[in-house]
Amino acid sequence: MKITTQEIIKIRKQQVRYPLIQPIADRFSPRHFSSEKIPNKVIDSIFEAARLAPSGHNYQPWFFYWTRNTGRTFEKIISCFPQSNYWAKTASVLIVACYLPTIDGKRDKYALYDLGASVMSLILQAQHLGFYARQIGNCDTKKLKELLNLNKDHKPFVVVALGKIGDYSKVEEIYLKKDSQPNIKKTDITKNI
Ligand SMILES: Cc1cc2nc3c(=O)[nH]c(=O)nc-3n(C[C@H](O)[C@H](O)[C@H](O)COP(=O)(O)O)c2cc1C
Repeated sequence: MKITTQEIIKIRKQQVRYPLIQPIADRFSPRHFSSEKIPNKVIDSIFEAARLAPSGHNYQPWFFYWTRNTGRTFEKIISCFPQSNYWAKTASVLIVACYLPTIDGKRDKYALYDLGASVMSLILQAQHLGFYARQIGNCDTKKLKELLNLNKDHKPFVVVALGKIGDYSKVEEIYLKKDSQPNIKKTDITKNI
């Protein structure tokens, strides 16, 4: 099967029923990236978006470790994935998104929720600048923490793969199969009460 990147975008992008800001309408999570370098100013912008996210008590219980695809750290992160996530090798940047489960010795019950809000801000800012992301939860986080020597108070939760969308005429068949399926979303998620 041969299919172009533009065709993948057409299949994966949502049919938007009501007006939305563009990055939300455009966003989806591809499994194939272009490994080209992401400019520093884009990296700065996406982390600025993450920094400004809302959080319970304004605790901001998040921390991001990131690397480009050029060195040992990138390989170390990939080694923590099961084979099903090897598509991430094509990413330009990998971000290890961590939450801080305790603040001043007390459990922060909002920490994971807040990390999600911060990651989503980051992803939407990236999308606005023309870069796609896919998150990876299926990862050996214990190994990741050891290999990267992360701060003991930082709990890795997802890795975010980031980059320009790749050339799907060169993608591995297994990912082409997955990414050429429509991206169905539920429609009945609200009730006016
Ligand atoms: C917390 C979380 C964990 C995820 N883990 C994985 C993963 O391990 N591997 C993967 O390929 N995708 C993973 N994803 C991506 C989801 O499968 C994807 O977001 C979902 O299928 C919806 O597709 P969309 O983002 O294109 O709308 C994860 C997403 C989230 C939010």
